[in-house]
Amino acid sequence: MINEYEIKKQICEIGKRIYDKGMVASNDGNISVKLNDNEFLCTPTGVSKGFMTPEYICKVDRNGKVIQANPGFKPSSEIKMHMRVYKERPDVNAVVHAHPLYATGFAIAGIPLTQPIMPEAVIALGCVPIAEYGTPSTEEIPDAVSKYLQSFDAVLLENHGALSFSDSLLNAYHKMESVEFYAHLLFISKQIGGPKELSEAQVQRLYEIRRQFGMKGKHPADLCPNAKSGQPSCHGCGKCGGHDNADMVSEITRRVLEQLGK
Ligand code: 13P
Repeated sequence: MINEYEIKKQICEIGKRIYDKGMVASNDGNISVKLNDNEFLCTPTGVSKGFMTPEYICKVDRNGKVIQANPGFKPSSEIKMHMRVYKERPDVNAVVHAHPLYATGFAIAGIPLTQPIMPEAVIALGCVPIAEYGTPSTEEIPDAVSKYLQSFDAVLLENHGALSFSDSLLNAYHKMESVEFYAHLLFISKQIGGPKELSEAQVQRLYEIRRQFGMKGKHPADLCPNAKSGQPSCHGCGKCGGHDNADMVSEITRRVLEQLGK
């Protein structure tokens, strides 16, 4: 098992990457890693995530209360958002919050990332919904994010940024990169005449590939009964009845469609 100091170094490394890639400005963003059911490492509040050393990193319990923090450091002001993800997604071991330019642009414009435009985004993410606006540091953001946790590994935060989570820190970071890359490509294609979307059949084949690979995490391909039966699904079909998570999935579909103005 990798020791705690190494994990702190990894958090600093990912912090530097999100800063260097312009996914955060100034002191923005936060990162956490689950050590076990009651111990989590997180970035401190109010520091640039691009210039952290392992001594900056705080340790909290499952309620976000400090277990250990060096003088001058307090856990991220968004720790409640991270803890809600861990509570409701036992498969998640790391959470990354950033404000990537294009993804956040879509979150500000109120446009969820739902257009199927490239295989990698469809396989890795499916769609990226927008969790309704909440005041940072309150329970409003955790409550808004909660609705999407069982179906997605990344969400946009309305008028705020993006949140990604996965079984490892590297994978959570990669999800954030994928969200931003998808948003950037969608933005570019909208400037030059609008994207030529993949067909429903093409999306289905990609969903099937994802299922065959047994990819971890939550994704619309694993939830929609139409996807399983090879019928048109997700990206707006609105036919998610019949599944164990039917109510939740139809609610998400309804919200995504509502945001799309359909
Ligand atoms: P913290 O520095 O408290 O983690 O907050 C940064 C941020 O981006 C809040 O949304």
